[in-house]
Amino acid sequence: MTTKHPAHLSADDWDELHFPRPEENDFDRVVERALSRRGFLSGLVAFGSGAAVMGSGLMTSSSAQAMGAGRFPFAPIAAQTDGTVHVPEGYRWKLLGGWGDALFSDAAGYDVTDGGPLDGSDRIFGENTDGMESFAFEGHQLIAVNHEYVNLDINLPAAQEGKPASADDVRKLQNLQGVTVFEIAQGEDGFEVVVDSPFNRRIDHNTPMKIVGPAAGHDLMKTEADPTGTESLGTFNNCGSGKTPWGTYLTCEENFNGYFGSTDEAASYDDKVKAGYDRYGVPVEGWGYDYHKWDARFDTSKTPNEPHRAGWVVEIDPTNPESTPVKHTGLGRIKHENAEVVLNPEGKVVVYMGDDERGEYLYRFVSTGTYFPGASTEGLLDDGTLFAAKFNDDGTGEWLALTPETTGMEPAEIAIFTRMAASAVGATTMDRPEWVASSPVTAEAYCALTNNKNRGKKPNAGGDDTAANGPNPRDANNFGQIVRWRPHGEDAAADGFDWDLYVMAGNPDTQEGAYKGSENVTSGNLFNSPDGMAIDSAGLVWIQTDGDDSNEGEFAGMGNNQMLVGDPVTGEIARFLTGPKGSEVTGLCWSIDRRTMFVGIQHPGSGWPDGGTPRSAIIQVRREDDAPVG
Ligand code: FEO
Ligand code: CA
Ligand code: CA
Ligand code: CA
Repeated sequence: MTTKHPAHLSADDWDELHFPRPEENDFDRVVERALSRRGFLSGLVAFGSGAAVMGSGLMTSSSAQAMGAGRFPFAPIAAQTDGTVHVPEGYRWKLLGGWGDALFSDAAGYDVTDGGPLDGSDRIFGENTDGMESFAFEGHQLIAVNHEYVNLDINLPAAQEGKPASADDVRKLQNLQGVTVFEIAQGEDGFEVVVDSPFNRRIDHNTPMKIVGPAAGHDLMKTEADPTGTESLGTFNNCGSGKTPWGTYLTCEENFNGYFGSTDEAASYDDKVKAGYDRYGVPVEGWGYDYHKWDARFDTSKTPNEPHRAGWVVEIDPTNPESTPVKHTGLGRIKHENAEVVLNPEGKVVVYMGDDERGEYLYRFVSTGTYFPGASTEGLLDDGTLFAAKFNDDGTGEWLALTPETTGMEPAEIAIFTRMAASAVGATTMDRPEWVASSPVTAEAYCALTNNKNRGKKPNAGGDDTAANGPNPRDANNFGQIVRWRPHGEDAAADGFDWDLYVMAGNPDTQEGAYKGSENVTSGNLFNSPDGMAIDSAGLVWIQTDGDDSNEGEFAGMGNNQMLVGDPVTGEIARFLTGPKGSEVTGLCWSIDRRTMFVGIQHPGSGWPDGGTPRSAIIQVRREDDAPVG
């Protein structure tokens, strides 16, 4: 069989020609792979399918429902379809702050007619809150939070219908994204933002950054404005987050490609540059931000290497507003979701990272050096090895090193074109890896695989096969699942691991076979598209969703996006919070005393509790008896 890809066939057509797939899913195969393997928990059957195997380790739907709240200290709430937030009885929530709030008393706040003036737009809380982490520093409580993207129509004058019309428009959009660092303090009724705190800081699309690690200074990183390839401007599409053991914030650049475009459709590029654009989806037209029309840095016909300076994990010291954020190229260039940092028993720094695109990969970085409190941390996020995950159908897996020997690529190119390196070693194509969360009480880690309509239908952008596989067992997967793994020897730096599926979302009320979901999905906790995740001090898994909230068809009964909590031992999952219609629930951290949890509500749509324009915001949730909430 020829493996040459004829020009007249699309990648889909070519794949279908050579690898025709049955019209129907092979139910037995799917269920066997997904549900009937033995899990790693005490030899229990981790998942039993009602149709195939009755699990002894996890509850059946009916027993889970009968148990109600189970080990959770609250009664799970029902799905909701309204425009506000719901939490269980015994808990209360209120706003902490949101898009447009002034961080400094001299900045003009949000303006509903045009999003406010350019002047001061880098001194207000940005739009579309996403990943966040909390920090304690010399008696102060700080939060660093991402602002993933902007809604063009509500940040520009209404008459422009979402189209930037000047360099000033573009500059305002650039100012409203990136990261906010701010201080919080207890007020009379919960936490408040400390306006004018010396810690308050905005980092945006023009903030100076330092580039370090294997790609720093490489020719592909150089531009006319920065012939050293070590200094760039801005951090982009800041999605998920991470926190280092030394108290810094990690912000993760996800869909950076959408900010670039070309004013010259006929521009030609070096082969490597062009191959990178194709794999990462750097477009000619842009995604509507139109930066390239007003700011040559984003015009690939003028600055072809600028896209290589985005797509990284960026470290920010939240305690020092004067510090320069650092782009760590050792952690690879992908559409980074989050960066979950753990230490192995020796003190090596291990970073788990998902690349959120259909059919892309799950990654791990292991440092060469070790962390010792108080010692220099230089190189701990750059000097080391990147790996991509390979999952075997028998419940084992291994981390495949991305090195010059395994990939045929030099170290700087492994960093810049990490996706190609992972393709070269034959890692497992995943259903859009979103957040990874690791447990503070066991060596387990979890990754939310949010959904993948292309699974079994279409290869990824690199042409890699995406037939259903162990942790991604369902074709046309609209529901998503969470895979978890336990490193061999409880050592996160070990190359081997055991894995199982913690949950497969689905709809037991309307679907058949594997699309019903795993046994711990019941009529009482329906959800789709797990995305944000964090594991609390007790080891409970908090799951946030970013899915279809139509509440119709296969999604009937799921309601608005929500936050659930899972027990890793019993598998039980309970709905804790529902967001307003149209919103995504994303971002979770706790106050120092863990009596308050902070939850991000991104892009609420149809309503907002204060009656005003729905605004992306952080809310705070407490128990009425003030007991800890995680
Ligand atoms: Fe920005 Fe993959 O979520
Ligand atoms: Ca996300
Ligand atoms: Ca998502
Ligand atoms: Ca989002």
